[in-house]
Amino acid sequence: MTNSILNCIGNTPLVKVPFGSKAIVYAKLEYLNPGGSIKDRSAKYMVEEAEQEGKLKPGGTIVEASSGNQAIALAMIGAMKGYKVIITAPKIISREKLTAITAYGAKVIVCPAVPFDDPRSYHSQADKILAETPNSFMPNQYKNLKNQEAHYKSLGPEIWKQTNGKITHFFAAAGTGGTVSGAGKFLKEQNPQVKVLAVDAATSFYATKGHPRPYAIESMGIDYDSPLLQNNFVDEFLTVKDEEAFGMLKTMAHKYGLLIGTSSGAVVFAANDYIKQLGKDAVVVMIFGDSGRAYLSKGYYS
Ligand SMILES: Cc1ncc(COP(=O)(O)O)c(C=O)c1O
Repeated sequence: MTNSILNCIGNTPLVKVPFGSKAIVYAKLEYLNPGGSIKDRSAKYMVEEAEQEGKLKPGGTIVEASSGNQAIALAMIGAMKGYKVIITAPKIISREKLTAITAYGAKVIVCPAVPFDDPRSYHSQADKILAETPNSFMPNQYKNLKNQEAHYKSLGPEIWKQTNGKITHFFAAAGTGGTVSGAGKFLKEQNPQVKVLAVDAATSFYATKGHPRPYAIESMGIDYDSPLLQNNFVDEFLTVKDEEAFGMLKTMAHKYGLLIGTSSGAVVFAANDYIKQLGKDAVVVMIFGDSGRAYLSKGYYS
């Protein structure tokens, strides 16, 4: 029993996936967080740190640019704590995510698919709304180092404990880079031999060295020079194409009962390929950041 839904964030299960590989492979089911994704952890941490630092005051408004899950998490937290929440989102956002944000009472402004620094982009629009709204606060998941710290303090220690310190390889999709660098930092501090693998969209800003092309995998892809990745916690960046990620979704649901979202499809594609070279001493953890339920209308599972 607990007094708040926010106390239910974290402590998600680590489940063995019987891939038939020599390596032992686990999936960390982050879609079982109450808001449905890994972003519950970082959103809660950023909001509560801002409250403590006096940056977010009672009756305030939270403004954020988000492709979906950070927005859902903030909408849930805002509802619980009594803040107004205004979200700007890119056009590729799924109908399910958009509806979930509004279901918690938040406002969403959908913006065209233009580069990060274009004044019409969802990032530029969020900055504009922040400047125009009194008593407002932007968690700014893209630049706020507290995003990384959230995963350093919660996700990393959970994985270390759940694997009894045996983890050898950690795979996570990267958008802001908060998950992979935060949990990766913690894991490497426990054992510097742990390999940290970031999964990126094949045509992201980062993967194409500044010449991005649109991609359809949602919630991931390094679209800017992320300060959260400017460290030595990631060993390798693995890139995945849309069709490779989407191709895994049906298999994971049909064969393993895991209805995963598109970034998890990218993670499992990258990990599945990588683990062919690993022996029986390897203990692999893949992050499954959200559920396929957020993408059912897109037809990937039928
Ligand atoms: C489902 C899912 N996977 C992966 C990511 C990427 O995580 P990060 O922003 O910590 O790099 C996100 C971020 O929104 C997400 O929602």
